[in-house]
Amino acid sequence: MKHHPPPPPPFSIKKLITWALYALIPLLLFHLYFHPLPLQQQQQPQQQQQQQKKSISVISSQEVVKKTTGIISRSCNYTDGRWVLDNQQGPIYNGTSCSTIKDGQNCMAHGRPDTGYLHWRWQPRGCKLPRFNPSAFLNLIKNKHLVFVGDSMARNQLESLLCLLSTVSTPELVYRDGEENKFRRWSFHEYKANVSVFWSPFLVKGVEKSAALGLKNHNKLYVDVADERWASELHGFDIIVFSIGHWFLHPAIYFEGQEERVLGCHHCREDGFNHSEIGFFDVFRKAVKTTLHEVVERKAMDDGDDHHQLVVVTTFSPAHFEGEWDKAGACPKKEPYKEGERAMEYMDVEMRRIEVEEVEAAKKELLLLQEKKKEKKMVEIEALDVTRMAWMRGDGHPGPYMHAFPFANGVVQERVQNDCVHWCLPGPIDTWNQILMQMLKTWNGRDQQQPL
Ligand SMILES: *[C@@H]1O[C@H](CO)[C@@H](O)[C@H](O)[C@H]1NC(C)=O
Ligand SMILES: *[C@@H]1O[C@H](CO)[C@@H](O)[C@H](O)[C@H]1NC(C)=O
Ligand SMILES: *[C@@H]1O[C@H](CO)[C@@H](O)[C@H](O)[C@H]1NC(C)=O
Ligand SMILES: *[C@@H]1O[C@H](CO)[C@@H](O)[C@H](O)[C@H]1NC(C)=O
Repeated sequence: MKHHPPPPPPFSIKKLITWALYALIPLLLFHLYFHPLPLQQQQQPQQQQQQQKKSISVISSQEVVKKTTGIISRSCNYTDGRWVLDNQQGPIYNGTSCSTIKDGQNCMAHGRPDTGYLHWRWQPRGCKLPRFNPSAFLNLIKNKHLVFVGDSMARNQLESLLCLLSTVSTPELVYRDGEENKFRRWSFHEYKANVSVFWSPFLVKGVEKSAALGLKNHNKLYVDVADERWASELHGFDIIVFSIGHWFLHPAIYFEGQEERVLGCHHCREDGFNHSEIGFFDVFRKAVKTTLHEVVERKAMDDGDDHHQLVVVTTFSPAHFEGEWDKAGACPKKEPYKEGERAMEYMDVEMRRIEVEEVEAAKKELLLLQEKKKEKKMVEIEALDVTRMAWMRGDGHPGPYMHAFPFANGVVQERVQNDCVHWCLPGPIDTWNQILMQMLKTWNGRDQQQPL
């Protein structure tokens, strides 16, 4: 049984259909709901002017936001910007220098011939994003436990970080559990720092589709119960990065409440279930809400625990399938979209919006709780808002290079499996960790200088 939506497992009719469906759902949504987004529909000539105006207003609104809360707003807002070609400095690691890259994402070692995708730097509006500094990052997590929780995108971000950090210090794998090592921990002994990954594709309690459990096609989700596997270990985490999304597109049945009432389902009626179709957006929102509430609640209840936590939600990372997933050239781009070249799809916009809104809601909940308990702030919650920068990077996926040398001997097959969801390592996802580093810096500074 394979768990990651996109690298599709070996061919079988049933799986083929599942994967075709996976590729179709976003397309379907696109056609049903898509309205051009004002955000990106500007005409070329107006664009520059508007950009100038925007960057001015960004700076002034940052001054205002500074007074309230927020890690990103206090220094720089990395959300909006553009990818600029930077041939001076390439990635700090490569497919042979880093031993922990998952095979399917090791594009270099798998023979991807073009290297242009390695030379783009994220240029945020109105500020600069410093280059990743591995030893500085390790110092920031000294005596700390940094944990990635979520699906294979969480794992992709973790593996990017391991590669970045292992350029200065070799991590030792100190714990592993679960098929495909879904639960792992590494120690950077020199820095007394630990980095872990927890598999939890819904963050809430869920049963993944499994023939053994009589769930051939459907996941089961309990939308108001956090997944105990990570939640029970929260007290041992200093920095938590949540990253989920793609698993919510799959057929599922949703439950809620102590009596486990059926809330509805997604794509279950075709299989003879008589639950109402409720889509996945509301369920996704509930799952994120449940998760962040769990973090705040457990922290508030744990009186003996006075270490400060940072909670980061990496926002939805769009897929880039153009047509069928197993057609050669399913994500053929060789460079990023230019600003305004193409609008984000409805689903990507919504998934991001839900996460950003739920982060804001959780911050408010936290603030109220603090006022009530007259305590200093023990948790910081922030969105690592990568959706837009990720959307522009259709060139950064393994595509057919999820397998080694797919076109060996000059043979170009018509059908080839493609991964247009995860990111090549090195690749665009290294930038997520570059931003994470800036968040850690601000968080650390706040911790020492101004206890609230
Ligand atoms: C950062 O910029 C994005 C996009 O312009 C905006 O939605 C968001 O509210 C900003 N964040 C902060 C904390 O100002
Ligand atoms: C990968 O990095 C190592 C170590 O920095 C270097 O020796 C090697 O030449 C690099 N390989 C490629 C293909 O860039
Ligand atoms: C890191 O993991 C090691 C080995 O499991 C453990 O002994 C140590 O206490 C952990 N340190 C932190 C800061 O979590
Ligand atoms: C399906 O549900 C509807 C509404 O809840 C109900 O009226 C109908 O009888 C149900 N059909 C079956 C076959 O159970």
